[in-house]
Amino acid sequence: MFLPPAPFLANPKEPKDFPLGRWNLYVGGAGCTVDGYLNIDLIATPGVDVVADAEWLPFASGVFQRVECDAVLEHVRDPQRVMKEMERVLLPGGYLHVVTPFCHPFHAYPRDYRRFTIQGLKQLAGPLEVIAEGWRAGPTATMLVFALEYVKLLLPLRIWRAAAHIFLGWLLFPLRYLDRYLMRFPEAHRLGNHSYVWFRKPGSSSALIS
Ligand SMILES: C[S@@+](CC[C@H](N)C(=O)[O-])C[C@H]1O[C@@H](n2cnc3c(N)ncnc32)[C@H](O)[C@@H]1O
Repeated sequence: MFLPPAPFLANPKEPKDFPLGRWNLYVGGAGCTVDGYLNIDLIATPGVDVVADAEWLPFASGVFQRVECDAVLEHVRDPQRVMKEMERVLLPGGYLHVVTPFCHPFHAYPRDYRRFTIQGLKQLAGPLEVIAEGWRAGPTATMLVFALEYVKLLLPLRIWRAAAHIFLGWLLFPLRYLDRYLMRFPEAHRLGNHSYVWFRKPGSSSALIS
């Protein structure tokens, strides 16, 4: 009830509306309701349709019109293999949306192996074409997320950490609007928080709903 607003503002320029098809796949959506998608995750929790490792997607090739992979690649052992798997299950002409952290604290789900630049992410993409790329959350989000984590490190008791999260969250969140200004500058990527890339599998298909 007292939870503060998120310390980041999602970039309104990030495209959201590439077409869905009859079958769409959401990779790593434990705890999320993802209407219109088949939700696969390593962990069986409410909302998950298929429990599987994204390194071995249990689907035939060329099935999905859209694949979403949001804040998952940093948790897998072999991100290149996961990118290959997502490319394999996409229909020709289908879209893959990948979001990855760059400057972000350690968070294990259940492991946390690495961070990505946009260049690094594109280097994993094989034959996929890049349709759009950019930053979902910028330098101020990075500074706020790290400040909250830093203060919590100084507090030994869990209850104090929870109180600090609520108090500082409310105090600092208005600063997130600075990213509206900072994100105009190309140098903002040096401290970017999360980035996105939209990929398209070459070829075309007639499996779109509309
Ligand atoms: C940081 S959470 C992201 C959740 C959601 N996509 C979101 O943005 O709110 C990472 C998710 O990836 C899942 N995950 C981690 N490794 C995985 C793997 N090898 N295969 C499938 N899912 C995995 C975790 O269980 C967790 O639900």
